[in-house]
Amino acid sequence: MTISAHGRLPRGTAKESAVGRERIAIIGMGAMGRRVATALQALGTTPFELCCLVRADAPDTDQLKRTFGIEIFHDVDALVGWHPTLAVECAGHAAVEETVVPLLGHGIDAIVVSVGALSSPFLREMIDDAMKVGGSHLTLVSGAIGGIDALHAARMGGLDSVRYTGRKPPKAWIGSPAETQFDLVAMDKPTVIFDGTASESARLYPRNANVTAAVALAGVGFERTIVTMMADPGVDRNVHEVEAVGAFGHLTIRLENNPLPDNPRTSWLAAMSIEDAVFRRLEHSI
Ligand SMILES: NC(=O)c1ccc[n+]([C@@H]2O[C@H](COP(=O)([O-])OP(=O)(O)OC[C@H]3O[C@@H](n4cnc5c(N)ncnc54)[C@H](O)[C@@H]3O)[C@@H](O)[C@H]2O)c1
Repeated sequence: MTISAHGRLPRGTAKESAVGRERIAIIGMGAMGRRVATALQALGTTPFELCCLVRADAPDTDQLKRTFGIEIFHDVDALVGWHPTLAVECAGHAAVEETVVPLLGHGIDAIVVSVGALSSPFLREMIDDAMKVGGSHLTLVSGAIGGIDALHAARMGGLDSVRYTGRKPPKAWIGSPAETQFDLVAMDKPTVIFDGTASESARLYPRNANVTAAVALAGVGFERTIVTMMADPGVDRNVHEVEAVGAFGHLTIRLENNPLPDNPRTSWLAAMSIEDAVFRRLEHSI
């Protein structure tokens, strides 16, 4: 399984590309889902229908209905009956298996932002199988990271090494395994809290897995991508660096991401990347 220059997984089986009126289902209406819904509704004249899938116990269903005026579903079967052409996952790793896989199996294309879920080889296999059965198509967005297109192209000539380094303020690591190994509150200099493969880091630091998985899938895979994570009192934003060496030459990229106003744990760029992917799709379907 790979991602291409625009983060697209290969099609399962041949299927006509979506044309005409898109029926878009947003999965998860947290900070990112609401942002995508708002951006889509601001388009105004573009011909598409919108609905969303939220958890059965979601507390704010009435408020969602008032704000967006769209149909709200609580289970996948009911959503399938609405005949979506595209599902946009903004819900988290578990939702990829619970929701995206069955939708792909029903022939519904999907855009996924919780790319870290694909660090599980088992889930990647399930996705492949579902795409084959449904003849559907999965797009993975680059999310909080950049340079994925260059990394993906560079592997055509052979990549010798890919290294990802993530830096966050020490308090951002509270709740991760680093909390039991380091005194995050008293930390006064940049400290390596993890050094290993993308596969290990996804297991131990799943909250960071979205970025490391995007890098691993585009480049040399989970076992050969080297990940270093640092608690750095000198930064006040999440900093992502990717360094790759291969026949193409040498790539270095560094992002300092601002948080999404409605969720400080999500990079604003990640929300923008999903908006961009949905807009691209709409551009090609009208
Ligand atoms: N690719 C990246 O770089 C990147 C960056 C940041 C976040 N993300 C992913 O995006 C996801 C969403 O981010 P956010 O800031 O909107 O989070 P959020 O916590 O604000 O919103 C997530 C929403 O999804 C809902 N949800 C959870 N499971 C669901 C399910 N099975 N079905 C329907 N709804 C469900 C939750 O109730 C919540 O309302 C994150 O969980 C993370 O996996 C990816």
